[in-house]
Amino acid sequence: MTRRGRTSIGIVGARGYVGGELIRLAVGHPHLEIAFVSSRALEGEEVAGHVEGAPPGLRFTNFDEQGVAESGAEAIILALPNGKAHTFVAAIDAGDRPQRLIVDVSADHRFDDSWAYGLPERFRDRIRGARRIANPGCYATAAQLAIAPMLDVLGGVPAAFGVSGYSGAGTTPSDKNDPDLLHDNLLPYSLTGHLHEREVSRHVGRPVHFLPHVAPFFRGITVTVNLPLGRRITTEEMVRRYESAWGREPLIRLTGEKPPLVRDIAGRHHVSIGGWSAADDGSRAAVVATIDNLLKGAATQAVQNVNLACGYDELAGIDHE
Ligand SMILES: NC(=O)c1ccc[n+]([C@@H]2O[C@H](COP(=O)([O-])OP(=O)(O)OC[C@H]3O[C@@H](n4cnc5c(N)ncnc54)[C@H](OP(=O)(O)O)[C@@H]3O)[C@@H](O)[C@H]2O)c1
Repeated sequence: MTRRGRTSIGIVGARGYVGGELIRLAVGHPHLEIAFVSSRALEGEEVAGHVEGAPPGLRFTNFDEQGVAESGAEAIILALPNGKAHTFVAAIDAGDRPQRLIVDVSADHRFDDSWAYGLPERFRDRIRGARRIANPGCYATAAQLAIAPMLDVLGGVPAAFGVSGYSGAGTTPSDKNDPDLLHDNLLPYSLTGHLHEREVSRHVGRPVHFLPHVAPFFRGITVTVNLPLGRRITTEEMVRRYESAWGREPLIRLTGEKPPLVRDIAGRHHVSIGGWSAADDGSRAAVVATIDNLLKGAATQAVQNVNLACGYDELAGIDHE
């Protein structure tokens, strides 16, 4: 039975792209109330001036680790850059309510077995009731959902060719969100050893290669995965495999043999998977997944995880139709 009632939530890193989406989702959520939203740069400013729909009177606070640990929030979402979550978690652990729920949207706990890995479509039972949840990466979510139904027929290392909108690089200026560099352009980066390559490999239990790129559009990711096969399968068998794995998942839509398009996923809460194609010689197959990096790739998934951890309907506050 799903729980009723309300949970107070604090968002740290609330100025960022993911933080903004988290605020929007929390504001419309039937069971969440905002205890605080924290940003150093926006301290004291009205949230409504930055995030449409935010309640009047809600202002950004600037909580350091101690401030977060001493806050009354029952659930904390950390939307900080990679490498910055540990000190906040340590302060909460050492505070007087260490049993509070923490969802870390950064990569800092995705390799830590004492944290639940928050990909509900694969690990729902482990997330239910968890107190520490590592939210998966955006590319890593799309790539895993594209590869998982084929794991037992792989005959080699799958390779995921990914293209992301530049919001994937966050708000801190870099080549990966530089409008001049990206204009009419496609930027390859970290073509071996990307963090999400390690993350996907770890959570599917076998090596996966990943080749990321940034494109000039703002949001959305498309991942095309090449799947070397250990035995011949047909496109029809691929279709059956994805339908059996994901057909009942409300946040996964299957597009058939037509590949999903990145422009159709912007602003949507689900992942789209399709474009299945098995080579005639039986050597390999291909599949395409698209995801909004800021939603199912980050904020929507964090809310799914909060819902599961707190016992609410998994899709509460997620308007996915
Ligand atoms: N963007 C995506 O598509 C995406 C997808 C999945 C996961 N993620 C992960 O989600 C996290 C946030 O990403 P984002 O794109 O929203 O980043 P972002 O736009 O760069 O925002 C980062 C936030 O962290 C705050 N911050 C930065 N350094 C801080 C520090 N030392 N102490 C406290 N606060 C600090 C910033 O606000 P102030 O400077 O005002 O404090 C800002 O609110 C990252 O770990 C990222 O890897 C991002």
